[in-house]
Amino acid sequence: MKPKQMTKPSPFTPHMLESIRKVEATRGVRLQNEPRRLSADEKRVLLDEFHPDYGDKGFSKIEIGPNAGEKAPKELTALLHSKSRISGLDLDLNKIDFDTDVLIIGGGGAGASAAIEAKQAGSDVLIVTKLRMGDSNSMMAEGGIQASDKDNDSPMQHYLDAMGGGHYYNKPELLKHLVMQGAEAIRWLESLGVMFDKHQDGTMMTFPGGGLSRKRLHACADYTGAEITRVLKDEVSNLGIKIVDYTAAVELILDKDGNAAGAVLMNMLTGEYLIARAKTVIIATGGAGRMHYHGFPTTNHYGATADGLVMAYRAGCNLLYQDTIQYHPTGTAYPVQLFGALVTEKVRAVGAMLINVEGEAFVHPLETRDVAASAIIRECHSHKLGVDIPGGAGVWLDTPMIEIIHGEGKIASALPGMLRMFMNYGIDMRQTPVLVYPTFHYQNGGVEIEASGNTSRIHNLFIAGEAAGGIHGRNRLLGNSMLDVIVFGRLAGQSAAKAAKTAKIGSLTLNHVKEYESQIAAAKLDTGDISPILLPKYTRDVNFGKFQ
Ligand code: FUM
Repeated sequence: MKPKQMTKPSPFTPHMLESIRKVEATRGVRLQNEPRRLSADEKRVLLDEFHPDYGDKGFSKIEIGPNAGEKAPKELTALLHSKSRISGLDLDLNKIDFDTDVLIIGGGGAGASAAIEAKQAGSDVLIVTKLRMGDSNSMMAEGGIQASDKDNDSPMQHYLDAMGGGHYYNKPELLKHLVMQGAEAIRWLESLGVMFDKHQDGTMMTFPGGGLSRKRLHACADYTGAEITRVLKDEVSNLGIKIVDYTAAVELILDKDGNAAGAVLMNMLTGEYLIARAKTVIIATGGAGRMHYHGFPTTNHYGATADGLVMAYRAGCNLLYQDTIQYHPTGTAYPVQLFGALVTEKVRAVGAMLINVEGEAFVHPLETRDVAASAIIRECHSHKLGVDIPGGAGVWLDTPMIEIIHGEGKIASALPGMLRMFMNYGIDMRQTPVLVYPTFHYQNGGVEIEASGNTSRIHNLFIAGEAAGGIHGRNRLLGNSMLDVIVFGRLAGQSAAKAAKTAKIGSLTLNHVKEYESQIAAAKLDTGDISPILLPKYTRDVNFGKFQ
C-alpha cells in the first residue's frame, strides 16, 4: 500500500490567505501600471506625520557635553548620561599591554579596510573587536554597493541622488569624496578577490534602487556584505595584522595634550581591563540597532550598541544627526522567528511591489527608504490596511512579480539568501508574497568627521563606517553604506598611518572621563547604568521590537 501523502499546513492564517488572493487578483493590472512617484510636498507631509524621526515621541534632550540641548533617541541619551565602566577603578596607565602605531576599534568592513591601508603604509596596526573579526553589520549587508562606473552615470549624478536622499544635509566635502571614490572602491575590492555579479561579456551587472537615477548598485547576489567581508578578512590575515578578538574598547585614552593616545580595553570573557597605547586611534564600531530606538526590531548584528559614539562623546567629540535613524521599509514581519530580519531592497529593485491587505499598491516600490517606511507605517496604523500578524500588522511584498517580469529562476539566482531564509519557514517567495514592516537598519548620523576622516575636536582620532556622521545627511540611500565603509575605512587608515609617523605620545590620562562624570553628577543625571553597554540587554521583560 502506498504511504498516504501528507499535505504540509500553510504557514499563513486564513485571513492572510484571503488577502493573498486579493494580491494575486490585482497583479495583472499592477504589472501594467506601477504606482506614481510622490511629489516633494507629498513626501514632506508623509514624513512629518509618520516617520519616527519627525516627532518628539521616543526622543529626549542631551543635557551635557558638546551636543547639550539637542535631541537624541532616549536610549542614546541614556547611554550619554550614564557612568563609565571604569568609574571608580584605579587603572595603572603605565602598565601598557599593547603598544601600536594605529589602534583600530572594530572588526567590520571599515575597520578591516582601515587596517589594510594603514599596514600597507608601514604602520604597526592592532585591531580590537568585542566579538570576532568580521562580526558586523558589513557582514550582514545584502543588496550591494553603489559606484558610478557605467557610461550613462557619473560621480556628479551619484552626488545629486545622495544629496536629495539625505534631504540636503549631507556634508558636501564628505559626500564628494564618497562618490569620487566609488569606481576605485569597486576596482580595489575586485583586485582583492570580491566576486561581483557580471554579465556573460564580463561587464558588471548594476541594479536600480530607491532614490537612484541610474542603475548603480553592484552586488554579489544578496550576500554582498558577506562576500566583501570574506575578502577583507583574508587580506587582513594575509598582511599579518594583529587582531585581538573578544576585547572591547570601553574608554578612549588621551594624552596630556588632549590627543587620542589609546584605549582602555576589556576582555569580554574574563572582565580583565587592559591598556592599549597608540599614536593614532580609529573608531570603527558600527551602528546602534540593538538599542532598538523607538521600540523597533532591527536588522543589525548582536554587537550594534553605539559604543563608539559613547566613547568619542565622553572624550569631547560632537555628534551629528544623532536624531535620525533609518528604518528599512522591508524588515520581515512574519513569521515571528524572523521578526525584523532584512528583506533586501534588491527585492523591490528587481520588481516586487508593496501591497496592502486589499491588494492595492500604496507607494512606489523605489521611493527612498524614509518615504517607503512612512507609507507602510501609515498603511498599517492610520489607514488600517495592514495585514494582521501576531502582535501587529504588516504589508505584502509581492515577490512572485519578480519571476513574472524576469522569468523562472530569477529569485534563486539573484536572491538565494532571501529564498532560503523564507523557505526555512515553509514560505516559498516565488509562489506567495511575504509580509514586511519597517525595521531599525542604520544610524544616519554619528561622530562628526572632517574631510580626512578625523574628528575636529581630538587630534589623532579618526572615525570610519557607520559610527561617522555627515556623509549621508538625514537619510542614507541603499548601497552607500558599503561604499562608505570601504572609502572612509581606507581614508581613515591612510590618514591615521600618516599622522602616526610624526605623532608623539605624552603621558596618558583618563581625566576626561572623570570630568564627564562630574558633569553627570552636577546635572543630577545618573541613570544608575554604565555605558558603553557592549552587548544588548535582552531579558524576558525588556520590551523591544514591538510594532509601533
Ligand atoms: O536592502 C539592503 O540590501 C540594504 C542595503 C543597504 O542598507 O545599503
